[in-house]
Amino acid sequence: MNKLPIAVIGAGLIGKVHIDLAANHNEVCLAAIADPSETARQMATSYNVPWFADYRSMLDTVKPKGVVIATPNVTHGAIAVDCIERGIAVIVEKPIAYTVEDARRIRDASQEFKVPVLVGHQRRHNPIVRRAREIVASGRLGRPVSATVLCTWLKPDEYFDTAWRRTKGGGPILINLIHDIDLLRHLFGDVQSLQAVTSNETRGFEVEDTAAVVLKFKNGALATVSVSDTTAAPWNYDLAAGEVERFPQQDVNSHYLCGTDASLTLPRLEVWEYRTGKGWHDPLTAERTALHTGCPYTEQLRHFRAVIDGAEAPVCSALDGLRTLQATMAVHAAAASGAAVTLPDD
Ligand SMILES: NC(=O)c1ccc[n+]([C@@H]2O[C@H](COP(=O)([O-])OP(=O)(O)OC[C@H]3O[C@@H](n4cnc5c(N)ncnc54)[C@H](O)[C@@H]3O)[C@@H](O)[C@H]2O)c1
Repeated sequence: MNKLPIAVIGAGLIGKVHIDLAANHNEVCLAAIADPSETARQMATSYNVPWFADYRSMLDTVKPKGVVIATPNVTHGAIAVDCIERGIAVIVEKPIAYTVEDARRIRDASQEFKVPVLVGHQRRHNPIVRRAREIVASGRLGRPVSATVLCTWLKPDEYFDTAWRRTKGGGPILINLIHDIDLLRHLFGDVQSLQAVTSNETRGFEVEDTAAVVLKFKNGALATVSVSDTTAAPWNYDLAAGEVERFPQQDVNSHYLCGTDASLTLPRLEVWEYRTGKGWHDPLTAERTALHTGCPYTEQLRHFRAVIDGAEAPVCSALDGLRTLQATMAVHAAAASGAAVTLPDD
C-alpha cells in the first residue's frame, strides 16, 4: 500500500507524538513539519523531511493529502480553514477551536469544500471505548439511566510555570473535562442541558482547579462528573486506560455507566448484571472483557487515511467537535450564572 503523505503543523508536546507516529506508520508517511520554533526545525532535520516556519508555504509547496493541526487552540480555526480551502483534509487537535464561532466556521468550510475534518478526541479510537460503545449500542444495559465519571489527578506545580495555564481557558475544563464530555457524548448521545459549580480555592489561580458538573442527555440519562487537577487521586481515564506512556497506568475505573438491565465500567470493561433474580436482594455477576489495548493515536492516523480515501466516515466529525465544545463551554457559563444551561441544536 502506498503511504499517504501527511504533514504536521505544530511540533510541541502533542505534535511530537503525531510526528513520530506518522513517520513510523504503515499507511501514512510524514511529508513535512511546519512550526517556527528552532526545535521543530531540528526535528524536521532528524526525520529528514522539509521544515517550514510558515504553514501556508508548506501547504502550497508540499501539497500534503492530510494535515495534523497541533498548534495552540486560538490558532485552530484559521489554520483548519486555510487547509480546507486548499482541499487538504485535517485532523485538528481538541478542542476543535477556541470559540464556538470558529468551530462553526470549520464545520461550514468542511461542508462547503467537501473536505473531511477529524477532531482529535483520540479516546474514540481506543479499542476499550470501541467495545464500550458496542456494549451500550447493543442494548445490553437496558435503558441508560446514569453515568458517574471521575477525572481526578494531580498536575505537578511546575506545570503551572507556563502563564496561560493559570488563566482563563487554561484549566481542567477545557483541557481535560472536554475529553470526558466527548466520551459521554460518544456513548450516550447529545447533551440536552447541564449545571456546574467550579472552584479555584486550592491553587488560588484565576483559572478553576476543580469542577462538579451534572449533565442531562437527550436520551434521558443523567451524569455527574467530578474534575480536579489538584487531588492526589488515580481515578482518571488517562491514568486508568494506559493510553499514553507518560502517565503511569493505575488499575482502576474512572467511568461507571448504569442502565436498567446492566452496568458497565471503563476502562476495565466490567459488565455487572443479574443472572437469576433481578433486584437488590439478588447477587449481581460481573463479567470482565479482556482488556483491549492499542495506541489510539496510531489508529486515528489509520482512520484518517481511510476517511481521505472515502472508505470510512469520520468517527469524530467537525459537528462532533463543535457539539463537544458547546457542552464544554456551557460548563463555564453554567458555573458563572448558577443556572442550568440548555444547549443549542446546532
Ligand atoms: N489529544 C490530546 O490528548 C492532546 C494532548 C495535548 C495537547 N492537545 C492539544 O494540542 C494542541 C497543542 O497543544 P500542545 O500541548 O502540544 O502545545 P505546545 O505549546 O506544546 O505546542 C504548540 C506548538 O505549536 C507551534 N505553533 C504555534 N503557532 C503556530 C503556527 N501558527 N504555525 C505553526 N506552528 C505554530 C509552537 O511553536 C509549538 O511548538 C492544543 O490544541 C491542545 O489542546 C491535545
